[in-house]
Amino acid sequence: MFRHLWQSSMIAMARSKRVKAFMQNARATSFLRGKYVAGDSAEKGVQRALDLMNTHNIRSSLFYMGEYVDDLGLVAENLREKSGVIETLSEVGLGIHVSVDPTQIGHHVNPDIVEGHALALAEKISAAVSDTGALNCLMLDMEDASLNDPTITLHNALQDQGLPVALTLQAYLRRTYADMEAQVARGSTVRLVKGAFAAPADIAYPSQKEIKENSRKLIRLMLSAEAKKSGFYPIIATHDTKLHSYAMAQAAANGWGADDYEFEMLLGVRGDVAISLAEQGARVRLYVPFGHDWWPHAVRRIGENPRNAALLARSLFK
Ligand code: FDA
Repeated sequence: MFRHLWQSSMIAMARSKRVKAFMQNARATSFLRGKYVAGDSAEKGVQRALDLMNTHNIRSSLFYMGEYVDDLGLVAENLREKSGVIETLSEVGLGIHVSVDPTQIGHHVNPDIVEGHALALAEKISAAVSDTGALNCLMLDMEDASLNDPTITLHNALQDQGLPVALTLQAYLRRTYADMEAQVARGSTVRLVKGAFAAPADIAYPSQKEIKENSRKLIRLMLSAEAKKSGFYPIIATHDTKLHSYAMAQAAANGWGADDYEFEMLLGVRGDVAISLAEQGARVRLYVPFGHDWWPHAVRRIGENPRNAALLARSLFK
């Protein structure tokens, strides 16, 4: 209950333009930016990705921040930055894995322009790499529940055109098992997350216990023998070490090798766990955000763990 309230308050803080304007310019909050964000430019994001690869054999998914955009100028900026980071990743010889929110590329301005924008990014990735498999792709993040159907439809449309695209699905939603079954049948690449949004109980599991139980059920499906046969590529995106162990046990039981699936975590959250997984031979990726619009991303991370209240207090009362 407290966790739910805490998360909802942080989500409201993430969406408030006034709070964002204040926080992004306050000197006291800059350590939060340093914790969760690689830097303000694509070059800094790619440099962090290179360091992670060279030091720990950890891959990255680059994310230019800026969500729920309702202005065409910002949509154009987001497209330029996402496109630029694809070029920079290609120049330094790293795999190309770029995350995007549909609202960043126009969903709230005009839903009809989103597919063209996503198509251009996915085609650019496809042209830059010889292997457009699960490891090189445009990863569609999943936002609030109103975006579920549009995001899945967008994913399927690009996939049907043979483009390198992947989808995020959220364990907190009741519909997700059916959505995952459909993606397993399509042989897709899917990133499973618990979900960073709040939704009513008729569509979402209200307790952490139920969300964790649903995560296990989804992991069983993602790492099933049937999923392996269809060419499905599972990405287990969580900092929950019990779910890591659960996924590894399912993978071993169903004949998945360490290179047939991956774990993904967020920059700045439990980095020791990511390094330890990579050292054990697991495929690990970090979500690496860059850009100026860092407050919504950072405050969502704070909302994921009530113990992070201390971090927020430190930034406000320092
Ligand atoms: P949980 O919250 O149960 O945490 C597991 C453990 O990690 C706990 O010990 C906890 O204390 C610790 N922990 C987790 N988050 C922490 C934090 N911020 N600070 C400190 N400790 C923390 N969501 C979404 O709705 N749409 C999306 O597209 C994405 N995309 C995405 C990509 C990737 C790569 C990741 C890892 C996550 C997302 N998310 C997301 C966020 C996701 O839905 C979820 O909110 C967070 O991952 C936190 O949930 P965990 O699964 O880590 O479990």
